[in-house]
Amino acid sequence: MRKPLVMGNWKLNGTKESVTALVNALVEPANNAANVEVAVCAPAIFIGLVEQLANGSALQYGSEDCDVHNSGAFTGENSPVMIKEFGCKYAIVGHSERRAYHNETNEVVAAKFQAAQNADLVPVLCIGESLEQFEAGQTADVCKTQLKAVIDLCGIESFEKAVIAYEPIWAIGTGKTATPEIAQNVHSQIRAYLASFNADVAAKVQILYGGSCNAKTAPELFKQPDIDGGLVGGASLKPADFSAIIEAAK
Ligand code: PGA
Repeated sequence: MRKPLVMGNWKLNGTKESVTALVNALVEPANNAANVEVAVCAPAIFIGLVEQLANGSALQYGSEDCDVHNSGAFTGENSPVMIKEFGCKYAIVGHSERRAYHNETNEVVAAKFQAAQNADLVPVLCIGESLEQFEAGQTADVCKTQLKAVIDLCGIESFEKAVIAYEPIWAIGTGKTATPEIAQNVHSQIRAYLASFNADVAAKVQILYGGSCNAKTAPELFKQPDIDGGLVGGASLKPADFSAIIEAAK
């Protein structure tokens, strides 16, 4: 059975004070959620602080991105090895905001996925279509193309140690959550596509839903058979809301 995973994505938000308050508030809900994995992905500059505060608790954490290189002349980047050194379990790769604002192609995202795994991080591969692609009925094709780039570079078995997050771009930060039916339909197509390469890997991989996942929408989403939890942006910044989402995953 797949264990649900509820992961916060803080994006470019937080202060030392708010991060301290948030992590302190989440340690107990994470410790009390024995059948749910709970994680937060923080801006790189706060990861050391999260490490200190979450130390010894069940709260896992990760980065919101990682570079493809481990070291070198790449000003401003954060390497997977450095991220690992600060105790991270996860690294998000291919978030639609990185794809849109930093021109990350499927090939770059696949290279980041590989670099994260090489550093013993669990990549959280974000995939999903734009509104235009959704309206044109291209959702499944877009997701398959994004997955295929990783399969080509890393092999299907790489998904044994990875998480997938389906995030329709039109649902991110818009308050327009995909309906449980739409999301389940896409998740099952993602799983079927992976199964066409390796059924065992497909059955085991956690596929999270992201895009205006909040305390209200999470319960019905998480009841769907192929939705294994959520990647939560805005609602992960509020301890009460994020705790309610963890509850919904139990
Ligand atoms: P949202 O963001 O929950 O604020 O829509 C989700 C994400 O971008 O991961």
